[in-house]
Amino acid sequence: MATSRRRTPIAAIVLAAGKGTRMKTRRAKVLHEVCGRPLAYYPVRRALDAGADPIVVVVGHQADDVEAALRKHLPGAPLRFALQKEQLGTAHAVLSARTALRGFDGQVLILSGDTPLLTTETLRAVVEKRGRAALAFATMTLDNPAGYGRVVHAPHGGPALVIEEKDATDQEKLINEVNAGLYCADAAFLWKTLARVGSKNVQREFYLTDLVALAAEGPGAVAVRVPPFEAAGVNDQEELSLAARALTRRFAQALMRDGVTIEDPERFDCDEGVEVGPGTVLEPSVRLRGRTRVGEGCHIGQGSILTDASVADGATVKAYCVLDDAAVRTAAIVGPFSRLRPGADVGEGAHVGNFVELKKTRLGKGAKANHLTYLGDAVIGAGTNVGCGTVTCNYDGESKHPTVIGERAFVGSDSILVAPITIGDGAYIAAGSTLTEDVPAGALALGRARQVNKEGWAAARAAQKNGKAEKGRASPRRASRRVAG
Ligand code: UD1
Ligand code: CA
Repeated sequence: MATSRRRTPIAAIVLAAGKGTRMKTRRAKVLHEVCGRPLAYYPVRRALDAGADPIVVVVGHQADDVEAALRKHLPGAPLRFALQKEQLGTAHAVLSARTALRGFDGQVLILSGDTPLLTTETLRAVVEKRGRAALAFATMTLDNPAGYGRVVHAPHGGPALVIEEKDATDQEKLINEVNAGLYCADAAFLWKTLARVGSKNVQREFYLTDLVALAAEGPGAVAVRVPPFEAAGVNDQEELSLAARALTRRFAQALMRDGVTIEDPERFDCDEGVEVGPGTVLEPSVRLRGRTRVGEGCHIGQGSILTDASVADGATVKAYCVLDDAAVRTAAIVGPFSRLRPGADVGEGAHVGNFVELKKTRLGKGAKANHLTYLGDAVIGAGTNVGCGTVTCNYDGESKHPTVIGERAFVGSDSILVAPITIGDGAYIAAGSTLTEDVPAGALALGRARQVNKEGWAAARAAQKNGKAEKGRASPRRASRRVAG
């Protein structure tokens, strides 16, 4: 039975047309982000994981933006979009998806776009437990059921109806089993029965919840209990933050189960899909975003923010680094306070230190740039040492130019490398040089004014100053300039 049920094709409808007035922002509610993704991403992702295909997202407020956001976060997914021009209620929203599902005669999962905590297991349970009934819907028991539709059971035990809070009597409001807003219905039953739903209620809306009573009177409805709060909807900013916390806690638990040390899971932020290898230590306030991958046995220091970064096994990112679309290879050491911008690639065993910024720059194996340096559009060979205060002048105001430094070169502190420029293997650059020409391999380049020492200059200036002061004339500025010149 279960096997054949599983084979019945599943489509999903995700309701995401509402504005979400209680969010108090200009954006449609489902566009607000939780752990790096728009709210509506989560129910769509879970429905896909539960085997739903296609998925119809019912959009209304900021329909184009919602569609664009979902397509961006779920490339290649079998998504369809149905426009609900006016939000006349949840039943009306589901009806808006009918055309998009024309010809589909399996079972239809219905989810709310504002429920990021739903799990795939719960969706599967609702699908499984429908059995031969026309409709299954998820319920949960809450200490404070305010705001939710209450589930009224018939004397013999089965669900009889769902009554919305605004339509409920004081007696009914005491019920703490609530409708979670997640349904699985036989497609034929769904379309036939939705046509019978009216709007005779306090809100004059077409309630999807009326399906429960209509099924209970006929082909039967099943209430499936799901863990409390899994189906909790996000309705305001506080619930948005609570959902983010709950989701992050879930990601952290999964990582810890796989051998990652998270020093303080309450001070850890992580997007869905981030990967971290066993034996890696994450200090407090680390934030891992987007497609970030961290290998095994790494150490990520406090306050570091990694977005779309890849950190190979055994690498260390010390405190307060910002990595964006950057790679850190095996056993490399970065930080504290380093900034790796898109295209930064720190080679195996290489070191990048404090206040060093890399952009589109490859630092070879074992190379070092330890202090106060900007390297942009550069390729730096293995074993090369880039001294403190080095700057690649990669931009001439119009376009970017490359800097190429060979292997085992030594770039003295405070070197200004005006690109395009190539510095050969094993070359030395004297500290404080401004270089505009290539340096051959093995050469020493000096690109600075020769030092001049003026013996006894200070005493001479003092004497001159005193002389002028006695005459009570001439400005000290002129005097000093004459001496210095
Ligand atoms: C709904 C249920 C309630 C349940 C609760 C669970 C109804 C009538 N009530 O109430 O029993 O306890 O969810 O969270 O269904 N939407 C549209 N178009 C519309 C109306 C709503 O797309 O015309 C979307 C909303 O954007 C939202 C979802 O449907 O994502 C749920 O709508 P909402 O108004 O939040 O329903 P609740 O009042 O929470
Ligand atoms: Ca809601």
